Amino acid sequence: MKAELLKRLFRAIASSDTEAIDKLTSLVIEEERDKGHTLLADQLENITRKSRKEKSSSSGEQTLSPPENLQALSELPTSKRLNIPLVSAVPREKLRHHMILPQNIEKRFRRIEREYAARDRLAHYGLRYRQKILLYGSPGCGKTLGAERLAWNTGLPLIKVRFDAMVSSFLGETASNLRLVFEEASKKPCLLFLDECDSIAKSREDFQEVGEIKRVVNTFLQILDEYEPSSGLLVAATNLNKTLDIALWRRFDDLIEVPKPGENELEFILKETLSALEVGAVNWSNIIKLMDGFSAAQVVRVAQDAAKRAILEREELVIQEHLEEAIAEIKVN
Ligand SMILES: Nc1ncnc2c1ncn2[C@@H]1O[C@H](COP(=O)(O)OP(=O)(O)OP(=O)(O)O)[C@@H](O)[C@H]1O
Ligand SMILES: [Mg+2]
Repeated sequence: MKAELLKRLFRAIASSDTEAIDKLTSLVIEEERDKGHTLLADQLENITRKSRKEKSSSSGEQTLSPPENLQALSELPTSKRLNIPLVSAVPREKLRHHMILPQNIEKRFRRIEREYAARDRLAHYGLRYRQKILLYGSPGCGKTLGAERLAWNTGLPLIKVRFDAMVSSFLGETASNLRLVFEEASKKPCLLFLDECDSIAKSREDFQEVGEIKRVVNTFLQILDEYEPSSGLLVAATNLNKTLDIALWRRFDDLIEVPKPGENELEFILKETLSALEVGAVNWSNIIKLMDGFSAAQVVRVAQDAAKRAILEREELVIQEHLEEAIAEIKVN
């Protein structure tokens, strides 16, 4: 483990900052996994999961770890004509879940996770947890990551809808594919993820019949209305903002705009991505100004690019120039 990470972990422990401890332990686990220390990473993960379980049961909430017998759909639905899977299951170890968000947005993600954990208690009072979530916002700000994080923190298997397989030029087939996926997904608890769900609308030109797209959108709306995930979640993501069909928006329990990082988040993502390396004298406020308007994905790219430059120079020390060059390159592209 790198010295900087170790120091941050100790600081978090010293100040009993549980949120930071959680984040840092996840980072340590990821780092070990990246190094190929899979066994150690699994053991560390088990330890943290166990302690979370104990904490949540002592606070009266259900565990966030996967419920027993919870598996991805045993049989993945396939399109009738081409027999290709309409969904893909993302294995838990492949889920990315570490995310930096402004506090107000982080709170909204947490609320979904907490309501999910407390779903039985809520049901006892006739209340339903937030089940249908729409994540929207500009590219590279964490919509896909957000869905993975929700799957990770709720312990639900992530089932991703494959729109490429779903959309068929055969009359009526797209709508029936859509129905099939939702039917299967409602049988077992899972997080059904409709990434880039606007692709249904965008593929309008592909349809031979004008009536076909209407049928698909109508089916989608109807399904959203009827869908009662068996103790799972439905998460949809889109780059489009409120220009999407208004009828679609009101069918979700929660609409979250995943924003571009502000100055604080930007600095945090940058420093965190660089935490494996020594960083020399850097004028952070200057660097952050240069990155105004960058997406989180671009920030990660800048940090990784600067790190590579430092490593190739064999100094393993990141300096202002490395960051400035990486930023300039992103701005050109
Ligand atoms: N909030 C965030 N905190 C930390 N890293 C982030 C965040 N958002 C995005 N990233 C980084 O950017 C990468 C891309 O993010 P992601 O795929 O979730 O973006 P997206 O919003 O789904 O973009 P698109 O609209 O293009 O699908 C992530 O793998 C991660 O490295
Ligand atoms: Mg995405």
